[in-house]
Amino acid sequence: MRIKFLIAPLATLFFFGNVSAQKAKQMSLQYKIDYMLKRMTLEEKINMLHGNALFSSGGVKRLGIPELTCDDGPLGVREEIKRFDWNSANWTTDSATFLPNGSAIAATWNPALANKYGVVIGEEANARKKDIMLAPAFNICRMPLCGRTYEYYSEDPYLNAQLAVQAVKGIQSQHVAACIKHFAANNQETDRNMMNAIVDERALREIYFPAFKAAVQQGNAYTVMSAYNKLNGYWCSENDFLLNKVLKKEWGFKGVVMSDWAGTHHTVAAANAGLDIEMGSSGPYDKWYFADPLLAAVKAGQVSEKTIDDKVRRILWLMYHTSMSQNHPKGSIATPEHGKAAYEIASESVVLLKNDAHLLPLNTANIKSIAVIGDNAVRTFALGGYGAGVKAQHEITALEGIKSRFGKTASVTFAQGYKAKYLANNTDAQNSGYDQPDQTLIDQAVALAKTTDIAILCIGSNREFESEGHDRKNLELPFGEQTLVDAVTAANPNTIIVVMAGAPYDLNKIKKSNHTIVWSWFNGSEAGNALADVLKGVVNPSGRLPFTFPVSLNDSPASALNTYPGKDLTAEYKEGILVGYRWYDTKKIDPLYCFGYGLSYTNFTYTDLATNKKTYKKGDKITVSLKVKNTGSVAGKEVVQLYISKLNSSVLRPGKELKAFKKIMIAPGQTAPVLINIAINDLAYFNDKLKNWVIEPGQYRLMAASSSKDIRQTVGFNIK
Ligand code: BGC
Repeated sequence: MRIKFLIAPLATLFFFGNVSAQKAKQMSLQYKIDYMLKRMTLEEKINMLHGNALFSSGGVKRLGIPELTCDDGPLGVREEIKRFDWNSANWTTDSATFLPNGSAIAATWNPALANKYGVVIGEEANARKKDIMLAPAFNICRMPLCGRTYEYYSEDPYLNAQLAVQAVKGIQSQHVAACIKHFAANNQETDRNMMNAIVDERALREIYFPAFKAAVQQGNAYTVMSAYNKLNGYWCSENDFLLNKVLKKEWGFKGVVMSDWAGTHHTVAAANAGLDIEMGSSGPYDKWYFADPLLAAVKAGQVSEKTIDDKVRRILWLMYHTSMSQNHPKGSIATPEHGKAAYEIASESVVLLKNDAHLLPLNTANIKSIAVIGDNAVRTFALGGYGAGVKAQHEITALEGIKSRFGKTASVTFAQGYKAKYLANNTDAQNSGYDQPDQTLIDQAVALAKTTDIAILCIGSNREFESEGHDRKNLELPFGEQTLVDAVTAANPNTIIVVMAGAPYDLNKIKKSNHTIVWSWFNGSEAGNALADVLKGVVNPSGRLPFTFPVSLNDSPASALNTYPGKDLTAEYKEGILVGYRWYDTKKIDPLYCFGYGLSYTNFTYTDLATNKKTYKKGDKITVSLKVKNTGSVAGKEVVQLYISKLNSSVLRPGKELKAFKKIMIAPGQTAPVLINIAINDLAYFNDKLKNWVIEPGQYRLMAASSSKDIRQTVGFNIK
């Protein structure tokens, strides 16, 4: 075998003569794939198209093609489980870096950090010999209650795409395939295995597809996972429009579509509609849809051999980029560098929601005692609930972080404050009473808070309460936390509220009654250190919300239009393109906290917003320039957000749409020039009738903003 592989590139050169190195590489790859394919029997081919264990699919031993291995997932490389069941394999070498959750990464508004995240995932996957990482996951946050909001990025397709592309590039820079998921419209967990999402094509093209398209075309993602749900009447794993027409044909996807675990429903329909590998089904492996039944379907002429060959080609293409690639990196796991990357992401993700009393950053000279209160101060988030987690090599809790950053100059004491009595796998009856306060714990917390200079109250949810497999029932803070907040705030006026969660919650009362609110996430191995550094001012907070916090659930589009969770297993996305801030803006509904919001310990002013021309045409690029000044006394990062709106549009357009952003570090007193390009083609809307993108001529408004509601400067321009 080895000798034949050496001959392959030489033969390519001989046959194709003087071609570019890139082209020669492609041709030699084609040659290798053809070479393999020609030597395979139909049975061997089909053996590669379905799982042969929980997290691998078959290879062809005779030809030296290894099996294909994969692992979850977004939070880091999951611990090794047994080959045929979900129990731990009890390895001692699989402790990994726990990376911040998806919405935390999104809150950094920093694509370079999404890339760093990807590199860590890729390196750790290599150390564990995994060819595919089932990450990143970036379904649009359509409904704030969705149980996987914490895994996903944002309600905005542009922010989503920028992060997804970089996460994919980072992972794949290590010769590990990213598996982008879940394609498409898996926006709720309620009935996810059965529900039919009815989404018009414009909303698909403008809201639900862009990050997938970008991850394929700009990120070159090697694999895509089809979603559990149906989309417009067809299971996503057998959706010809989704997989064949859009993904493979239109976007030119060269890689492999794999099903979500047990998300395959038929043999012929799925095989012909573009699914390549069936994963996670149950029963004997040779009885799966893509095993013996597929062989029979080929023999009966219901699926062509050409279709089978195309699937195998895709898998081999993926393998030559990953497990069978040259100079395949060895990888490394839970290294100090990976911990540093987790810290950087976490520290840029923390969002300062309110700082009215200017209590933050804490002045260590004046603080001699700190009460840290709340179950979340001592809780870890690497594991929990239903869905993938990480056996974290270390995870710094908030209490540990605060002790390490403040413990030398202040006494740090702890009270639990509330009991987090909720398990994702429990029934409602078993979980009943989870929202009740625990008066004994509250009394203890109040007694402690009365004696200290500062109280840091760590509340929010956890990985049991926000979980794959179920949605939350409402936006309320769980575990009686509001009662605890009220009591501790009354006892100590210097109370800082720290919320740790991955999705929007009802913070109405806290926003009204408390002066200091910090939002943290399920923030990875270094969460506690990052949080404490923000509280101390070592890190100036620069996180911005990646989704809207509504005042009330009924304000959110899917609730307002009564389309969630749907009727008779059908959810009609009646809000169309008006998802997230697009809805609140257009309908003039004030949110509690808007998309893109977050404070800093300094202030920024915007001046000199201009475009390089007044009038543009199709294919042009707008060069936007502006100046941002840091007017405060500390260095800080500002996220400059550029929104566009079409004036007097002939079709419905959102009040504004994010089209570019840039995160910049500015020293105190300094002014930073900012240059950002926006392609005119990216201002098109999708015309449902023409089934095409249309750039509407006329007047547009460009807004430079610090959040979606904080527009600092505007300028007009035209498109001819
Ligand atoms: C999830 C996927 C995950 C797969 C394998 C499914 O339940 O939806 O995101 O990759 O399980 O663990």
